[in-house]
Amino acid sequence: MAAIKSVGILTSGGDAPGMNAAIRAVTRSAIFNGLKVKGIYRGYKGLIANEIVTFKTQNVSNIIQQGGTILKTARSMEFKTKEGRKTAYDNMSAAGIDALVVIGGDGSLTGARIFAEEYNVPIIGIPGTIDNDLYGTDRTIGYDTALNTIMDAVDKIRDTATSHERLFFIEVMGRDAGFLALNGAIAVGAEDAIIPEMATEVDQLAELIENGFRKSKNSSIVLVAESETTGGAMGLAERVKNEYPQYDVRVTILGHIQRGGSPTSTDRILASRLGYAAIEALLEDQRNVMVGVENDKVVYVPFARAIKNEKPIDRDLLNVLRILSI
Ligand code: F6P
Repeated sequence: MAAIKSVGILTSGGDAPGMNAAIRAVTRSAIFNGLKVKGIYRGYKGLIANEIVTFKTQNVSNIIQQGGTILKTARSMEFKTKEGRKTAYDNMSAAGIDALVVIGGDGSLTGARIFAEEYNVPIIGIPGTIDNDLYGTDRTIGYDTALNTIMDAVDKIRDTATSHERLFFIEVMGRDAGFLALNGAIAVGAEDAIIPEMATEVDQLAELIENGFRKSKNSSIVLVAESETTGGAMGLAERVKNEYPQYDVRVTILGHIQRGGSPTSTDRILASRLGYAAIEALLEDQRNVMVGVENDKVVYVPFARAIKNEKPIDRDLLNVLRILSI
């Protein structure tokens, strides 16, 4: 295999805090090893539109603490087509890029996998999503910051919940995964978490809440993962209100504040380690793998495993949550 001389880097899908720290790590590790770096703006969309810029070490100065992504991001429908990928490959070749580092979530790595197979391009994936839903890594970049944002927001909501003796349903992101809802709920001492991985019936939930109020708790907080399976916070609140009109119910949807803000130290360190590991992987002739961490060690996971496998949620955590909220 010809030695890699130039690596392209892009961020794709939803932004996540820590993506900039990863861009910095990839850029500087590559330059340290004598590789050229090309920043590709707006993900696959930008690759198709030829938005490619040479990156020097200074391009990534002063970004480790910034949320979002300096490379911008997008979700590209065109890259899902053969024609779109052909244009992307032509642009990449014309720019002299012979390997890619893709920072993103499930959809972005799925695109990377198809592209790598079709054009025999070495690609390394870095898990960047607040959802934490990639198999083969204990954590994804952005997840810890989002959890902390949820914790800060819900702590504030609790002041109102307690003062008014209310029941709050708070919807958090996660797409089809309940990691943010479940661990967020433990972190704020919520009564319950409604997650797509485990069904909770309304009467079961009401019993939990009723018990709490009976024990003279003066507020109740339930975190609800967004998803068709849970029905979201609005749907659940309506059902509870109809069946239990005695509760003073309110709903808060946290929304995109969960994706913003300066990354935590955990996310900055994770992103720095994974960015460095991505370049090491390319230099070792690895291709089509995602870099991740398992038990605090860097691991390489084939795309097919990272994407297709459902990352299991620790069911015991729901017991931890419920027992600790009695
Ligand atoms: O994948 C990250 C994520 O924030 C999900 O949690 C959420 O479902 C989705 O992206 C929202 O996407 P958008 O910003 O395009 O509305």
